[in-house]
Amino acid sequence: MDDLLNRLTGARVLVTGGGGLVGSRIVRLLTTIGAEPVVLDLLDAYPHPVRQLFGLDETTVVLGDVRETATVRSLVSGVDYVIHAAAYADVAACTRRPADAFAANIAGTQTVLQEVLAAPSVQRLVFISSASVYGDRPTHADGAAEWAEDRPTHPISVYANSKLWGEHQTRLMLTGSISTRYTILRYFSVYGDPQVPKPASHSWMVACLAMGAHLGLPLQLHGGGHQVRDMVHVDDVAKATVLALAAPGAAGQTINVGTGVATSVRQIAERIASHYPSAQLVNTPRPDGDPLGGYAATARSRDLLGWQPSITVRDGIDRYVAWLQANSQAIPEWMRAAAVPAVA
Ligand SMILES: NC(=O)c1ccc[n+]([C@@H]2O[C@H](COP(=O)([O-])OP(=O)(O)OC[C@H]3O[C@@H](n4cnc5c(N)ncnc54)[C@H](O)[C@@H]3O)[C@@H](O)[C@H]2O)c1
Repeated sequence: MDDLLNRLTGARVLVTGGGGLVGSRIVRLLTTIGAEPVVLDLLDAYPHPVRQLFGLDETTVVLGDVRETATVRSLVSGVDYVIHAAAYADVAACTRRPADAFAANIAGTQTVLQEVLAAPSVQRLVFISSASVYGDRPTHADGAAEWAEDRPTHPISVYANSKLWGEHQTRLMLTGSISTRYTILRYFSVYGDPQVPKPASHSWMVACLAMGAHLGLPLQLHGGGHQVRDMVHVDDVAKATVLALAAPGAAGQTINVGTGVATSVRQIAERIASHYPSAQLVNTPRPDGDPLGGYAATARSRDLLGWQPSITVRDGIDRYVAWLQANSQAIPEWMRAAAVPAVA
């Protein structure tokens, strides 16, 4: 695996969305292995104090929109690789503001693809997609389904639709390109410090439940918390993504990035509660549309990327809670406000 990473020493890599949670971790890994990352990001997904937690030197970021043709053109010309991770990356926000999802995830992706196609120096584009493209069609009675990459896709949200369009368009535009290959990665549920939930988001189970427990809120388990997620640590995700730039067998492939382990929401809550003895788990009705979830088939990530996750969900949750206990100022104001009982 390290041989593959060593191939990237000195490579110039454009990371769109490199100012976000996953992107900043990718940039850190690229720097560690001696590659030269260039970041294009709007830096508008989080307030400044949250972004500071990511540890990125923001003075090196090209502040711009992936929809800006001239900006993208000037950045892709001369780079060896592109990781396209910029996105309006919150399921609930995309549903509330579909036009914003369309702008970032569809118009932005189109601009990146067309400029990559016109830049002969780019050897490979890695498009960051999501397991949300699979939708919610469990195959087992207990609700847990293994999602293999060739499973039919049934997106059930604006966000998932936009990611699936990005996948199709990547294949459509780059299949047959002589100079540039592509790899599509479907991330499962990414977690790990310093993840901070976005306002009114229902994603990011570990961060939401841990911060709730820290504030003394009951941990709500919709329908008993039997839904499953494949929780994959952000450090592992960053490594899989960088490997996808260099792995020969990954060219032209769509690859899950998950652990292959189904973890129920209840298990996540119980592990978090083990650190907060007064935390209460409360069963609440399961809302319509709450996905039962699934877990990743991992043969392709193992065989094509030579990648396996290194952080168990138990260790990853413990690390997150330890970080939160040392950095409780990271809990956003909107979450604290929700924890204060309204005064008539
Ligand atoms: N976090 C997860 O669980 C998860 C799961 C599946 C897929 N993904 C995908 O992984 C990628 C990274 O996700 P993340 O969790 O780090 O999200 P994030 O919100 O932390 O990072 C996304 C970054 O993209 C930037 N961005 C948004 N629109 C932009 C635009 N038009 N131009 C330039 N920059 C723009 C944002 O400012 C932000 O810094 C996204 O493509 C997301 O859809 C994430």
